[in-house]
Amino acid sequence: MISLIAADEVAEGFCREVELDREQFFLVRKDGRLYLYRNSCPHLGTPLNWEEDKFLDPDGALIQCVTHGALFRIEDGLCLAGPCHGQHLFAVPFKIIDGMVSVDPARIAEATG
Ligand code: FES
Repeated sequence: MISLIAADEVAEGFCREVELDREQFFLVRKDGRLYLYRNSCPHLGTPLNWEEDKFLDPDGALIQCVTHGALFRIEDGLCLAGPCHGQHLFAVPFKIIDGMVSVDPARIAEATG
């Protein structure tokens, strides 16, 4: 397992970018739970954000792609509106080990194709 970041560095309602093997991912915390996604929009494969650690819409309710405004549910990455409606962000499984968000490199390889 590879440690990415301390889980408590991701505050409620905020996101944190993490990099592994030159691929970009981000964590988001909602209702106390953490979610980890690849930072790649299903529409064009571009990063979802322009500003560091900024992935949410103005209400902080949904993940928003800055390129064409697609909106994704935080809990499962489902695109609710936009050009990739019905598609999902690629979720990466992880475990919290000794307070660190930790991933299996094989699962990262799946996420990056
Ligand atoms: S690239 Fe994300 S909505 Fe088009």
